[in-house]
Amino acid sequence: MAQQGLWRTKSIEQANDTGESGLHRALSGLDLTLLGIGAIIGAGIFVLTGIAAATKAGPALTLSFVLAGLACLFAALVYAEFASTVPVSGSAYTYSYVTLGELGAWIIGWDLILEYSVASAAVAIGWSGYFNRVLSGIGLGLPDVLTRTPFDGGWLNLPAFLIILGVSGILALGIRESSRFNNAIVVLKLGIIALFLVAAIPQVDTTNWDPYFPFGWNGVVSGAGLIFFAYIGFDAVSTAAEEARNPQRDIPRGILGSLVICTLIYIIVAAVLTGIVPYARLNVPDPVAFGLEHIGAHTAAGLISVGAIAGLSSVLLVLLYGQSRIFFAMSRDGLLPPVFSQVHPRFRTPVRVIMVTGSLVALVAGFMPIQQVAELVNVGTLSAFIMVSVAVMVLRYTRPELHRPFRTPWVPLVPLLAIVFCGYLIASLDAVTLWRFVIWMALGLVIYFLYARHHSRLAP
Ligand code: ALA
Repeated sequence: MAQQGLWRTKSIEQANDTGESGLHRALSGLDLTLLGIGAIIGAGIFVLTGIAAATKAGPALTLSFVLAGLACLFAALVYAEFASTVPVSGSAYTYSYVTLGELGAWIIGWDLILEYSVASAAVAIGWSGYFNRVLSGIGLGLPDVLTRTPFDGGWLNLPAFLIILGVSGILALGIRESSRFNNAIVVLKLGIIALFLVAAIPQVDTTNWDPYFPFGWNGVVSGAGLIFFAYIGFDAVSTAAEEARNPQRDIPRGILGSLVICTLIYIIVAAVLTGIVPYARLNVPDPVAFGLEHIGAHTAAGLISVGAIAGLSSVLLVLLYGQSRIFFAMSRDGLLPPVFSQVHPRFRTPVRVIMVTGSLVALVAGFMPIQQVAELVNVGTLSAFIMVSVAVMVLRYTRPELHRPFRTPWVPLVPLLAIVFCGYLIASLDAVTLWRFVIWMALGLVIYFLYARHHSRLAP
C-alpha cells in the first residue's frame, strides 16, 4: 500500500534495511544507560531549579518534577517500543517516516533539529557561566566582552563558542572515544550529586516547606513546563541505534533505565534543596552550590561548580551527537543534501555533518541571546513526544503482526496519557514561545516544499 506524495511512507523493512551504514557498533546496554544519564542531568537541575522554585512552584517544585517525570515516563515507554522495532538512526524522525508519512517525518526531524541545537546552545551558555565563575575564583576571570553576546553589550560568549567546537571534535574522533568520555563524566556527575545529598540531607529544615504551594497548583504546572528541560535527553539514546551492539534489547533499557534513575534523583534533590533554603531565595544561576553555601558547606559548594562544568559537557556531547545522527538519517533519505550522510572511513563517524552542525550551534551559542528562546526547546520536544505517541498507536493498527521486542504496556492508554500530559505542559508555556515555534515549523515547511520533497529517495 505504497502511498504517494506527502503521505508516502517507508516500510519498516525499508527503514531497517540500512545496509552497511559504516557506523561503529560499539555501545553496550550500560553505555547506553550512561549516555542517557549523560544527556539528562545538566542545566535543568544545576541552573533552572532555582528559578523554577523561586518564581513558579515554591517547595512544590518537587511535584513539578513528578509531573514532568510522568509525562516523560509515558513518552519513554512509547519510544522504547519504536526503538526496539525500528532500531535505526533517526529516532522519532524515522518512527514517523514509517507511520505518519514523509511530511510528518520531515516535521518531526525539523523539530528535533530545533530541540537539539537550541538545547545545546542553551547548555553551552550555562557551561560558560560556571566555567567563568571557577576561573574568577582563581583570579583568571575573562573580561565581560568575551563572555557576553553582542546583544548583551559584549563581543561574543567565547567559552560557549569554544566548548561546542571542542565537544564536536571529540564526537568526530569516534563513538567509542565519545562514550568513554561520557561514562567518566557521568560517574563524576553522580558523585557530585551524592555529595550534595550527603551534606544537605541532615540540614533539611521542614519549616522551609511551609507554605508548600505558594503559587498554587498552576505554579506546579508552569514549574513543570520549565523544568521539563531537565529531562530532555533520554530520547537521544534512541538516536544511537546503529551504534549499539544489541539495539533491540539495549536501547529500551537505556531509555527507561536512565530516565527512571534521573527522575528519582531529581525528586530527591528538589525536596532537599527546598528544604535547606527558603524557596524565595533560590533565584540564582547556581542554586545547588548556593544551597550548600547557605548551610556552610563551602568546600562542597566549590566542588559542585567543578562537577557542574563536567556534567554540562556530557549533556553537550549527547545532544550534539543526537543532532548529527538526525541530520545523518534525514540526509540518507535524501531530505537533506547527501554530504551529511558520508561516514569518515577511519573514524567511522559522520565527520562532515558533525563539523557543519557543530559550527552552526557554536555560532548560535557564541552570538545569540539564547536564554530567551530556551523554552522553545521544551515545546519542540513535547511536540515530538506527542507525534511519536500518535505514531505508535497508528503502527499497532496498520502493522499489528510486526515483531516488537519491547511492547509499550496498555496501548492505547499509555500513549494517550503521554499525549495528555505533554499537551498539558505545552499549554502552560508562554504564548510567545508557542508563536516562535510556529514560525520555526513554517520555515521548515518552506524548505520541505522547495528542496526535500523533490530530493527524497522516495520521490518518483
Ligand atoms: N536535560 C538536559 C539538561 O538539563 C538538557 O541540561
